[in-house]
Amino acid sequence: GAPVQADISKLEPGQRMTVEWRGRPVWIVMRTPDMIERTENFDPARLADPDSQVQQQPAYVTGPLRSIRPEISVLIGICTHLGCSPLFRPNPDDVDMTAWPGGYFCPCHGSYFDLAGRVFRNVPAPANLEVPPYRFESDDIIIVG
Ligand code: FES
Repeated sequence: GAPVQADISKLEPGQRMTVEWRGRPVWIVMRTPDMIERTENFDPARLADPDSQVQQQPAYVTGPLRSIRPEISVLIGICTHLGCSPLFRPNPDDVDMTAWPGGYFCPCHGSYFDLAGRVFRNVPAPANLEVPPYRFESDDIIIVG
């Protein structure tokens, strides 16, 4: 499939937009400083693969935020369990869980992911959400693929 272009100039802090790439939804989220802090400071013991040892992202996407720019997250919006689309639950009060850092909840079988797409321990999903290949063509234009 051809690469797709995403214009993020109208994306507000805390918001998500979706583009389609190879028939799959790609989520682009502009994380706020608070969202970044909650993700970076989240207890790694609660995550199954906090350092992204399993290859679910391009090599140039490193660190807990799993992104090129800290504020911009790019993820494939498909649960790594059986392919449902997880729900965007970015705020601490969105999920009834101790110290929910914000992220995604898959209602199909109850998998949780943080705002970097890192999967929690003891949920059905076996791996972090996938990060597609992408690059910034300019400050506001992302090329996915
Ligand atoms: Fe997401 Fe099963 S498909 S938990």
